[in-house]
Amino acid sequence: MMTCPTNEMEQSTCGEQHDQQQGPGAACHEDGENLWDPFGLLQIDTGCASSRSQFAGNENENWCSRNALRKQRHWEKIIAAKKNKRKCERERRKAKHAEEKGAAPQLSKRDLKMVVKQRLLEAKETGPWLCIDLSMTGHMTKKEIGRLAAQIRRLYGSNKKAQNPFWIYLTGFVKNSPIYDACLRMNDGFASYLMDVTPESYLDLFPLKTIVYLTPDSENALEEVDPQKVHILGGLVDESIQKRLTFQIAREKQVQTARLPIQEYMVKNVNAKNYHSTTLAINQVFDALLTFYETKSWEEALKAAVSPGKGYVLRGTTS
Ligand SMILES: C[S@@+](CC[C@H](N)C(=O)[O-])C[C@H]1O[C@@H](n2cnc3c(N)ncnc32)[C@H](O)[C@@H]1O
Repeated sequence: MMTCPTNEMEQSTCGEQHDQQQGPGAACHEDGENLWDPFGLLQIDTGCASSRSQFAGNENENWCSRNALRKQRHWEKIIAAKKNKRKCERERRKAKHAEEKGAAPQLSKRDLKMVVKQRLLEAKETGPWLCIDLSMTGHMTKKEIGRLAAQIRRLYGSNKKAQNPFWIYLTGFVKNSPIYDACLRMNDGFASYLMDVTPESYLDLFPLKTIVYLTPDSENALEEVDPQKVHILGGLVDESIQKRLTFQIAREKQVQTARLPIQEYMVKNVNAKNYHSTTLAINQVFDALLTFYETKSWEEALKAAVSPGKGYVLRGTTS
């Protein structure tokens, strides 16, 4: 009977791994085989050999070898099942990889940039158009202006990734103003963002009847994203909430208003803080517009935009 003290030590190390890890970590061989499984069989035999010496009769010897055989068969079955499982897993991974490769041919960075640019320039011609009204920065602290600059960065990032992006305008964007400085300082590559920036007001750029000012306080729920309209977002971060500010401004200018249809598609979730808010950050509202434009589903759009912290869940869901 083979005795192998060195292997016995390594076997116990490996054996521990084998016991604790059923996954890929249990493998001690490069293709996932546990090298010491065969020694596991040898150990069983060794145990038998030592017990065999304690018994004199043939009967005991027979019993011991039958028992060892049974155990060996049992282990062989386990090893075969494990091998088969690993093989299936490898094949599944291979098939998935091949499928992904076939479905989305890899574009070079340069080509990808070209595709994004083309999509954006097409949106500039045909819509949809989105405008961020930056005329209210006088209502914000320096910290809030910094957060607004970060939201503009996220919003632009989502737009670049979209299959059907919007063309974006920043209006009321005055050179050397705090928001201008914050955008240049905090947003890498801001100067080459593909969008239009102007110190002018949206009222001087677009016909009144094409403007829809989005505000959480509007009585009108937005029903669709019309690519012939210009949707305006209030460039505002109000940590101490300035209720109805954009709504009042829009009403003064006799501009059409709309809110996201949160109340129509979602219900208040019971939560410990009993906090519920339909006021989102501009990048979240934009995520809703982008998703709706792509999927034509308000459920999908609101799921993408309204975080659980807002205290709302889609109707018919529990969380
Ligand atoms: C943080 S909110 C500012 C809330 C502020 N109290 C106000 O008077 O608009 C920033 C902007 O996101 C847009 N917004 C936020 N939640 C919205 C909602 N539920 N529906 C439509 N627009 C929303 C509006 O354009 C809003 O001006």
